[in-house]
Amino acid sequence: MANAIMTSTKKNLLITGCSSGIGYHAARILKDRGWRVFATARRHDDVERLRGEGLESFLLDLDQSDSIHMALDHILSLTQGRLDALFNNGAYGQPGAMEDLSREALRQQFETNLFGTHELTRLVLPIMRRQGGGRVVQNSSILGFVALPYRGAYVASKFALEGMTQAMRMEMQGTGIHFSLIEPGSINTPFRKNARTAFLKNIPVATSCHRENYGRWLQEGEKNLSEGLFSLPPEAVVDKVIHALESSRPRLRYGVTVTTHVAAVLRRVLPFRMLDYLLARG
Ligand SMILES: NC(=O)c1ccc[n+]([C@@H]2O[C@H](COP(=O)([O-])OP(=O)(O)OC[C@H]3O[C@@H](n4cnc5c(N)ncnc54)[C@H](OP(=O)(O)O)[C@@H]3O)[C@@H](O)[C@H]2O)c1
Repeated sequence: MANAIMTSTKKNLLITGCSSGIGYHAARILKDRGWRVFATARRHDDVERLRGEGLESFLLDLDQSDSIHMALDHILSLTQGRLDALFNNGAYGQPGAMEDLSREALRQQFETNLFGTHELTRLVLPIMRRQGGGRVVQNSSILGFVALPYRGAYVASKFALEGMTQAMRMEMQGTGIHFSLIEPGSINTPFRKNARTAFLKNIPVATSCHRENYGRWLQEGEKNLSEGLFSLPPEAVVDKVIHALESSRPRLRYGVTVTTHVAAVLRRVLPFRMLDYLLARG
């Protein structure tokens, strides 16, 4: 873990999706390390709760351009126009077979996981350029570089996030702005519970050709909603975020969990067919 910030002036960090999970833990831990953290969430009650816990919290819904603009304007009014770092964390998973997914459900997945994140990042870049530098940390996933069946929408959004980030990283060369990708495997957060809600909302389970697999998945999901064998707590992700924010040489990619590291190696050494076979078997 990188050393705590030693500077007397606090550096400013905006985090999206702080109502729970990784964003929530990142906000608390980074505040304790000396960052001035703006912990954003998309619901009023979560903002109030976070404020009650002593965090500087503001409403930011990645699906709404107005909300993104208002949150950033408000935060910049408190920092004399500075923003040192952005942790793009807010996102959700839309499970289900691609053939069962409506255009609207797929669009919604991209609105949150990619378009909102892109819009916020675009607004932040001129500020960082003026300052002569900054850090942008993207919460991607193991599913940002390998695919799984019934995760197509989420996989597509995270592959897109990875591609966009690599392009932006090159575009930002010489500006002092660094981009990093965090690639967690399974982390113990409400993510799977929220994904299940999106699944039940948008997938026509009873009439689908995939209903048997869905039935199995829903049953197994009951058991796996909490901790899996290779799951880690959110703090494991925050350790990598800290390195990406504070190290003098931030990396492009940070794998989190054994599964991510194994998948990264297998993707390099195995033929695609073999990799697909292994991934499809879970
Ligand atoms: N948990 C894992 O196993 C895992 C693995 C790999 C990557 N990740 C990534 O880690 C990040 C955080 O997920 P998590 O595990 O901490 O799950 P989480 O507890 O469900 O957190 C997701 C956060 O994103 C927020 N969010 C959803 N839609 C939003 C929107 N339209 N605008 C703003 N915020 C929105 C959620 O807010 P609400 O509470 O209002 O929905 C919540 O605060 C995500 O990018 C996820 O893809 C997680």
